Amino acid sequence: MTGRERLSRPATKDFANVPPPLQGEHSRNGIGYPHLESLAGKKPDEFLRNLGYNTKIPDVSIKALHGMTLTPGIARDGVYQDNKERNRVQLPLARLRQHVDDYNRLADDANWNRFKSLHWNELRPELLTEGQKNAVVFVTYVEDHLPGYFSEYQSLFPIETDSMSASLHNRELFHFTVRWGLEEDRHAQALALYQYHAGIEPDRDRLEEKLIVENRKPFSIGFSKPPQVFTYTLLQEKATQLYYQSLSRVVKEPVLNRLLVYLTKDESRHFGFFSEMVDSFVESYGEKALSLIEEVALNYKMPLHNTMVDYRRKAILMAREAPGYDRNLPQKVLMRQLKRLGDRLPDLSGAIDASVARMMDTLRITTIEGVA
Ligand SMILES: [Fe+2]
Ligand SMILES: [Fe+2]
Repeated sequence: MTGRERLSRPATKDFANVPPPLQGEHSRNGIGYPHLESLAGKKPDEFLRNLGYNTKIPDVSIKALHGMTLTPGIARDGVYQDNKERNRVQLPLARLRQHVDDYNRLADDANWNRFKSLHWNELRPELLTEGQKNAVVFVTYVEDHLPGYFSEYQSLFPIETDSMSASLHNRELFHFTVRWGLEEDRHAQALALYQYHAGIEPDRDRLEEKLIVENRKPFSIGFSKPPQVFTYTLLQEKATQLYYQSLSRVVKEPVLNRLLVYLTKDESRHFGFFSEMVDSFVESYGEKALSLIEEVALNYKMPLHNTMVDYRRKAILMAREAPGYDRNLPQKVLMRQLKRLGDRLPDLSGAIDASVARMMDTLRITTIEGVA
């Protein structure tokens, strides 16, 4: 920086006068600079101006500085948090890491091969009913929507952020997302391969073309706050797990039966992850998280409900193929989970009971007794 560009500052404003970082109750988990919080999110030149510096910085320097955003504020886990971050409802990094580690510890051993684990030479397509074939077609579309789903997660939880805390969180989550995405992609392709080998769609190119028609349509989870996103996925994972489980009880064709068992196990593990995430949100954020979860439970719709032609009729027909499948069961399972959480968290049990009562009332659910 040349002398002309050098910042001049009044004597009364000196970095030496900036109070030292505060500890203890001023920062819940670390050290902080709460007196600088009002400057959080400011660009460097604004930040300096606020500190009393004369900021006649040439455009070129401002341009160079504008790639950065200063984030003074509370330091948590050694990472500064600004006001925006404290408004973000995200799990503490250590908690998230524990869930992701737990998931991948199981998932890394839970493999099956979409090409080799299913023995196509044992296929008995004559044992499939027309309804079961249509059910396979329908769930292939649902699973095949993974690219849209995955990219939604990528845009909701980006790695490139101006916040170290958010980037760390999102990078940690990516360890889960990419593994989960791999498993969902395996579901989609295994179902497509099943359609091909079982002769449901014997032309592989035509099959891919049919799938891409739905896949190209835009997809949105419809919620953006992390507890909402994870609640939405929890419900979807439960719905698919229950559906595959119910369908497998009546399918006589042995290869499809085997595939449904693989799918059910994966979906059950996925549900387990999201269920623990949702529990942790309630433990960390209490009623704030509860209201977000409730909003999703009351407005939950499966992917494709608004993009696939004739979705409603197809969904009804599909449900008929899986006796015992109850489309409200995922919400009931969620409510039961919240109730159990209330037993562990007496301070929240009143709020949880009230939330569950509202959900039951709105969804016209009369009982959740006996729900696992
Ligand atoms: Fe799946
Ligand atoms: Fe899943």
